[in-house]
Formats: sequence, structure tokens, C-alpha cells
Amino acid sequence: MTSRPLAAIARPLIVFLCFYLGFIAPYNGGASAPSSPAAVTAITSDDPKYIALTFDDGPGGEYTDMILDHLEACGARGTFFIMGCRINDNLPQIKRMIEGGHQLGNHTWDHVDLTKTDKDATLRQIMSVHDSIKGLFGVSPQLVRPPYGFFDENARGAGFPLIHWSVDTMDWHLLDADAVVRHILENARDGDIILMHDIYPSTAEAVGRVLPLLDQKGFRMVTVSELFAIRGIALEPGKAYYCAR
Ligand code: NI
Repeated sequence: MTSRPLAAIARPLIVFLCFYLGFIAPYNGGASAPSSPAAVTAITSDDPKYIALTFDDGPGGEYTDMILDHLEACGARGTFFIMGCRINDNLPQIKRMIEGGHQLGNHTWDHVDLTKTDKDATLRQIMSVHDSIKGLFGVSPQLVRPPYGFFDENARGAGFPLIHWSVDTMDWHLLDADAVVRHILENARDGDIILMHDIYPSTAEAVGRVLPLLDQKGFRMVTVSELFAIRGIALEPGKAYYCAR
């Protein structure tokens, strides 16, 4: 058999070549070696990465409270796109959001498809939430998230930035905390807006589990407005946003 001695020589040679190309060669060029664009823009584990966790369709009573507990335990902030028809049943939760430095967003009065409403109805759906929160708490939501992500010129004309998302956890469909945690960890990147719903126990559980893991990975959880401000992006009325990159 001649292959054995050959393999005995070839194998260490291949191992050496891999080692040389992988570890020694890249440094031999010194200062004159061109660095790849990936190396220049790569975010190391030491750099803070910012994401916005967003919660739609609530406030959802005890589940919103659980999520607020988790956020506060980790020094994280969230953005809650609330439905007007849920305001009166969730006044303590909204108060907690405001006092805790979280952001309130507008998810219309009763979750209509804004492409199926006329101009007056679109404005009513948005401004009723705006005025109600302002009257009750003295603050007004400055961001709108159109239900289903559907919007038209009338929604643009309401005069608020339209905030969408770049990572859809599908929490409403999965109803599985493990799957939601996995989805976030596998997909979240610097500048992402993560979509969840604070009306499911599985989502509340997922938030509790994922926050420390995101923290370990160097993510800072900020509000949507903070996320864009950190990136120097001014949010404009009527414009749609999906992430801060
Ligand atoms: Ni919704």
C-alpha cells in the first residue's frame, strides 16, 4: 500500500498550510496589507449594539406587567404600540410604561387595516389614541405602527413616523417561549426593531429569558426613538422605517 506513507506526509503538510494561511499569513503584510471591508466594519463583542424591542396589540394586563418587570430587572427599555380600545382597562400598565422611561406608540384605536379606511376614518383611528393618552397622562405617542404593517397615503398624511420592524418573532403564531428566544438570538443585529406582542404569556416568558442573553451578546435594549437618535437618524412624519441602519 503506497497511500499510507503518502497520507502520513500530506496530512501534516495540509495542517501546516491551513495554520499558516489562517493565522500567520494575514499578519505578515504589516501596515501595508490592505484590510478587508468586513474587518473594518465588523462589530466586536465589546462594541455596544442597539436594538428596540417593540410590543403591539396591548397593553395586555398581567403580561404587560411581567414584560415591564423583566425590562426593569435588566435596565432595558421597550416600546409599546398600544391599541386605543385597551387603554381604559390598562391604565396602571400605561402609567408604569411612562414612569419607567419606556416609549408609547400608537397602534390605532381598534386595529384596523388602514388601507381600507378613508381619510377621515384613518385620522380618527390614529388621533383618538393620541388624544386619549394625552388627556389621561399628559404625554402623547409620537410614533405610529400601522396594524399588519399596512398603510397608504392617508396614514402618511396623519403626520407621524410609521414604524415597522426588521425582525418578526412570530410570537403570536408560535406561542412558544423557546422558539421566540431562539428566533431573536439568531436574527437580532445592531439597529434592528424586534416585533412582539405583550398579550401572550409565552411572549412574557420569552422576554424574561432573552434579555440576559442579549445583554451577554453586547446588545443594549433601547426605545425606538432612542435607537434612531443613537444612529443620528431624524424620524420624519409620514415616512416609513424598518430598522436603524
Ligand atoms: Ni397588531
